[in-house]
Amino acid sequence: MTFVITTPLYYVNDKPHLGSVYTTIICDSIARYKRLAGEDVIFITGVDEHGLKIQRTANEKGIEPKSHCDEISEVFNNNWKDWNISFDKFIRTSSKNHEFVVNEFYERVKASDDIYMGVQKGWYCVGCEEFKDNPENSSTYKCPIHQKNLEWKNEENLFFRLSKYQKEIERIINEPSFIEPIERKNEIINFVSRGLKDFSISRTNVKWGIPVPGYDNHTFYVWFDALLGYVSAISSDATEHSLEKSINGGWPADVHLIGKDILRFHAVYWPAMLISAKMKVPKKVFGHGFLTREGQKMGKSLGNVLDPDLLLTKYGNDPVRWYLIKDISLGNDGDFQDKRFVDIINNDLANTIGNLLNRTSSMSRKWFNNKVPNKEKIFNEKKLENFAKIAVENYIYNFDNYKLDLAANEVLSLAINTNLYLNDNQPWLLIKEKDNLPLVKEIIYNVLESTRIIGLLLIPLLPELSTKINDQLGSIYREEIPWKKQLIWGLLVSNSSLPKPTPIINKLEYEEHL
Ligand code: MSP
Repeated sequence: MTFVITTPLYYVNDKPHLGSVYTTIICDSIARYKRLAGEDVIFITGVDEHGLKIQRTANEKGIEPKSHCDEISEVFNNNWKDWNISFDKFIRTSSKNHEFVVNEFYERVKASDDIYMGVQKGWYCVGCEEFKDNPENSSTYKCPIHQKNLEWKNEENLFFRLSKYQKEIERIINEPSFIEPIERKNEIINFVSRGLKDFSISRTNVKWGIPVPGYDNHTFYVWFDALLGYVSAISSDATEHSLEKSINGGWPADVHLIGKDILRFHAVYWPAMLISAKMKVPKKVFGHGFLTREGQKMGKSLGNVLDPDLLLTKYGNDPVRWYLIKDISLGNDGDFQDKRFVDIINNDLANTIGNLLNRTSSMSRKWFNNKVPNKEKIFNEKKLENFAKIAVENYIYNFDNYKLDLAANEVLSLAINTNLYLNDNQPWLLIKEKDNLPLVKEIIYNVLESTRIIGLLLIPLLPELSTKINDQLGSIYREEIPWKKQLIWGLLVSNSSLPKPTPIINKLEYEEHL
């Protein structure tokens, strides 16, 4: 089974910001989870390089758009490697392969009689690369996302007959799992109910774009071109008949994970374009919320932009991942708070999970000759086993339903309950009586077994920390066995060796100004 998941294709006007890191981390976690669950994953990310915004950014730097894009695309690609993102495809929309796909796709849409020449007049936000629907006082109105004035445009453009697809789009957006979360779905249903208008798909004032065949001074509108990047990514090594290769190579996408501001493009325009080209529509569009910082919108003018590079070098990958996945409910807006970040990491990762691993492996090494004790079943007390079983079930249910925060919380609550189990049973007191040895063995085995399951459940969420847990417990994860099968209680091998403990996570220090 192929599972295709995509991040948005990020504009290369600047290096990745916290918002793009957020989406990419969430996609990475889902991609890792699906791989472990046995699916054949194609995880697509990449960059959106054309359009007026990028053309202007390059002009301001006094360089050609192509060299600007080369430079920033490289930054994105390297950044995702630094964040340990397990992407399979990185698409650049300035690539030759992509141009082939766009042209082939355009021919199909034309063949459906969905393209005509018209005049486009309206107020345009260059930041969004989008015409805005007649905002009041448009000349002074600032786009709420980019805080910039709109620009008046009046030009001959080619149009796509979106209006023709009103009924089909209504049907698609009402399908139960097409748009998530539900609030976003309602926004789109409202928008579509007002009646779909045709939209322009070419520009005459933008040189930095893919030329429209047959129209000398027209380039494709950046969104028409960019959405197709998801398709061309699949056939990234092809040069011609690329569209066909993508269709056979895994299209349609199972999920486009995007921010809520670009939902219309993905849930309305994109399916209509695909239907017109006689292609399948994506199975799901998930619109996540926006991140703020200490309650405020992040912006250069506000001087409060949190540089993800800084977070990565200062705190490392896993702490940032944990905060973004566990503290923000996917679909809702989230707030990055420096103090809260440090507290959560120290509580959850250092004090709860790290400490659990350290103390249990130390006890076991000390009392049982550096080994896992024998799996005694004398008392056969199943409290922890039952906790673990429920945690695994809930985790899988939540992950399958894109509730990553709840999945992460299941792991944490298993760790909390395992610590409680230890504290309740106090094996450090029991060990003083020789007769208690079987009971101590059973307790320690149970605790180590629960820690093994915690380590396995953390693989998609925290790839680096979970590897350390795995190493610490003596390489318990076995690639040749399906991951879900390894989540069954009782598979920790009695008398296997436990390597020397090393701290798996350091406590963080809070600094007022990050
Ligand atoms: N190039 C288009 C996408 C084309 S997809 C075929 C684009 N790029 S973007 O770089 O401007 O935005 C990428 C993503 O970042 C969007 O999903 C947007 O919602 C998201 N975010 C921008 N600011 C954000 C936050 N403050 N918080 C979370 N995500 C945010 O749009």
